Amino acid sequence: MICRACTAEIPPSARFCPQCGTPVAGAGIGVIPATDRLELLKDYIPPELASKIINAGKKIESERRHVTVMFADVTGFTALSEHYDPEVISDLLNECFKGLVSIVHKYEGTIDKFIGDAVMVIFGAPLAHENDPERAVRCTLEMMDDIKRFNLVSQLNLSNPVTLHIGLHSGIVIAGNVGSNLRMNYSVVGDTVNLSSRLAHLAPPGEIFLSEATFKSVSNLAIADGPFRVSIRGKAEPVVVYKLRAIKEILGYDSHRPAGKHFVGREREIEKIDKLLEFSKKFNGFHLFVKGEAGIGKSRLKDEVYRLAIAKAIAPREGFCSGFEINTPYFLWNTLIRSILQIDLDTPEREILTILQERAAVLKIQKVIPYIAAILGIRHDDLGDEEGTVRKQKIFDAVIGLLDNYVRKHRTIFILEDLHWIDKFSQELLYYMFSGHKSPPTLIVGFYRPEYAHARSMESFGDVINLSRLTKEDSKALIRMQLEADIIPPSIEEVVLTRSEGNPFY
Ligand SMILES: Nc1ncnc2c1ncn2[C@@H]1O[C@H](COP(=O)(O)OP(=O)(O)O)[C@@H](O)[C@H]1O
Ligand SMILES: [Mg+2]
Repeated sequence: MICRACTAEIPPSARFCPQCGTPVAGAGIGVIPATDRLELLKDYIPPELASKIINAGKKIESERRHVTVMFADVTGFTALSEHYDPEVISDLLNECFKGLVSIVHKYEGTIDKFIGDAVMVIFGAPLAHENDPERAVRCTLEMMDDIKRFNLVSQLNLSNPVTLHIGLHSGIVIAGNVGSNLRMNYSVVGDTVNLSSRLAHLAPPGEIFLSEATFKSVSNLAIADGPFRVSIRGKAEPVVVYKLRAIKEILGYDSHRPAGKHFVGREREIEKIDKLLEFSKKFNGFHLFVKGEAGIGKSRLKDEVYRLAIAKAIAPREGFCSGFEINTPYFLWNTLIRSILQIDLDTPEREILTILQERAAVLKIQKVIPYIAAILGIRHDDLGDEEGTVRKQKIFDAVIGLLDNYVRKHRTIFILEDLHWIDKFSQELLYYMFSGHKSPPTLIVGFYRPEYAHARSMESFGDVINLSRLTKEDSKALIRMQLEADIIPPSIEEVVLTRSEGNPFY
């Protein structure tokens, strides 16, 4: 077992940590040992995720990785032990963790271990995503909501509700295979782990503490109080923490990607896009697809599309897909329509309806308001009670009508970002539009990774730009710009070039 406060190794029978003296969580109340809980919960790991994690873990012997570590400590069960049998509490605790673990899986975090009533989760190893800190932050907020729900539905009359306190810290860890058991074999150690566990310990019930490092990497999308300075045992200097409140939902804005100042290479692509923009007014619906692996520079190129368009007084409107919304019907169209009607994602339902009515009057599409409302995820009394297929057709026609009328009134192009994450309904409508020559009369640019399942069929409706890796010369120029230096020691340049193999994300 490992101490929840200082993460030192604790002998199995100990009730206090030999290093810092913290009582061992759950000692004496008959709670299931952590390893058994992992065993109990293993059936709840989605199989694809399990194999993804195992495969990612297999490749690695032991290495330094940048990760975000989450410690989430559940409290409130110990108080129950006076009134209920240990088995009841244990079942309840497992029930509670089941909900939390499924949220961790949704965001593709890796459960490292259970320590008493706490769980340690890693974002960034062995599975790495370009937005691991964001995933961690979203995950903690959803876990907090889940605990509230758990308190509401749990059968026990909990006079003191179960609460969570969470710490998040991002930094370098040593990651590697440390055991033999398939699911326990991957773990991380290091100061990063210690700090996040201490932050969880310090956080009052219901609070999420972010270290400065985590806050910095999500500062453009997190709403947090702070900075606060707290002193931590074993650290001479006070540590800076932020209290996480919420996530800003920003439209058509790549939250994980700080806007790149510099742009290198891609001259041919830029030239092509510039020409298409020039003629966009005359198009009867022109589709351009930009395809490339993660980190290759699609979104960066998209920024250039914005720049070029705005210089020509063309306003880009953007719909996007999200890895978190793969099962949300019409998410792509929801975001595109919000971008068109200038409705933020966090606008209250009431206001949305008012804005929708105003804009619909201008565009002369009042008849389809209930269907547009449906796409925006809000109720409308006038939605007919027609059958599913009929309704779907009406929704499709409503969107097509809206885009068409909008384009005829405004100089605009449409951008469809991250199509590899498109939901089923959005894809159906996209296909219906493109294949049936029902696209609005302007330029539409779609961005996606090669794994986009419908790439092949969609590409038959337009031109494709295949983003290749940057040339050696461009990579060098980028390194120089990033480091804001003219002369880079050739040895460093070589290392960066070989490591990144022309993928600018690295
Ligand atoms: N041509 C480029 N010039 C300068 N920076 C680039 C270029 N292409 C990509 N980058 C940088 O590389 C990183 C990853 O690019 P991004 O556009 O987010 O990739 P993608 O959207 O394909 O996953 C970003 O920080 C981006 O600013
Ligand atoms: Mg991108």
